[in-house]
Amino acid sequence: MNERGDGSRSDGRVGVAVPAAGSGTRMGGVRKAFLEIAGRPMLTHALRPFLGDPRVVCVVVALAADDAESPPEWLMELDERIRIVVGGDTRSQSVRRALQAMPEDVDVIAVHDAARPLVSTETVTECFDVAMSGLGAVAGCPTVDTMKRVNSEYRIVETPDRSSLWRAQTPQVFPASVLRAAYADDSLEGTDDAALVEKTGQAVRVVDAGPWNIKVTHPQDIVVAAAVLMHRLETA
Ligand code: CTP
Ligand code: MG
Repeated sequence: MNERGDGSRSDGRVGVAVPAAGSGTRMGGVRKAFLEIAGRPMLTHALRPFLGDPRVVCVVVALAADDAESPPEWLMELDERIRIVVGGDTRSQSVRRALQAMPEDVDVIAVHDAARPLVSTETVTECFDVAMSGLGAVAGCPTVDTMKRVNSEYRIVETPDRSSLWRAQTPQVFPASVLRAAYADDSLEGTDDAALVEKTGQAVRVVDAGPWNIKVTHPQDIVVAAAVLMHRLETA
């Protein structure tokens, strides 16, 4: 039992940065975070396992400028730990702005895409635990397809050894000082957070989150995400 006397985990304080300011080009130009899947906005699904962890003290959501100016009521009423910031032109800029709004006294910072509504509580818990131990943690899964490196003419130039290749997802969770240092240089860009942390030489490991923690990117991904969420509701 801890000092709360309720058996909940109170060790370590976590901040969560949620980039949700993209323009959803591959979805046909819609704000994906607000799209309804299985009866709830995608962002609500994506936040659920984080809001359920008592170690989380603050969730900073980066939204496009007009949405940040008048955020939807359902988002503001979801949880009092949620704060809104205006996102940037790229994912890295949106994360950077969320980090600037994060309280100083968090031990660990998690970054999670609003576009990943299928993230599980188990994955969030394991990534938090790894980061609390001082390592970076990246949710992902081993590649099942054979991978090919191709040139600009689509000619295959290499078949890399699949056994050492993982697909990187989010959450990506790091000791707070490590992530802040990785994002300190305003000009640095990456397609994920670990790419910036790796450049600083800090250790980062993968956490197997399975193949279903997909990023909703194209319209057909909504069909998959809805099916998985409905299945979970039915079997819960
Ligand atoms: N994102 C962001 N700010 C940006 C670009 C992306 O906060 N300037 C966020 C998206 O909202 C999403 C996550 O980063 O939650 C992953 O990006 P992606 O899936 O590529 O979403 P979009 O950029 O919106 O989609 P597209 O690339 O098809 O335009
Ligand atoms: Mg994008």
